[in-house]
Amino acid sequence: KKILILNGPNLNLLGVREKGIYGDQSFETYFEELKSQFPNLELSYFQSNSEGSLIDKLHEVGFSWDGIVFNAGAYTHTSVALGDAIAAINTPVVEVHISNVHQREAFRHQSYLSKNCKGIIVGFGLDSYRLAIDSFTK
Ligand code: DQA
Repeated sequence: KKILILNGPNLNLLGVREKGIYGDQSFETYFEELKSQFPNLELSYFQSNSEGSLIDKLHEVGFSWDGIVFNAGAYTHTSVALGDAIAAINTPVVEVHISNVHQREAFRHQSYLSKNCKGIIVGFGLDSYRLAIDSFTK
């Protein structure tokens, strides 16, 4: 199975930004661990800080790949366009968040993506990604 991990804005700074919330590991090193945990999956990783590039990527893989694990960062709480892009494609999307957004500011409680996602995994640190990928092995 072909699975894309899609990371949105500021997630290129994992391991550097707000370590108390997001931990001290870079996504690149975590991605190596993930690949070794799922030897039977074809895992790819793409990150962009720009909303349009994230939409283009959803369109590119969203009619042929088997699953998308999507952390849209702050665009989760602002982007009607990303929600529409998820609705437009066929590939199931699992929304993930590293932090438990429901324990944080009220503006992080709203997601424009959730309605169109297969499921949501929130608050398990980087392990949220592993749990989401695991859902595609079932
Ligand atoms: C996040 C939560 C968002 O509210 C925040 O803007 C992020 C990261 C998370 O993974 O916990 O950038 O999506």
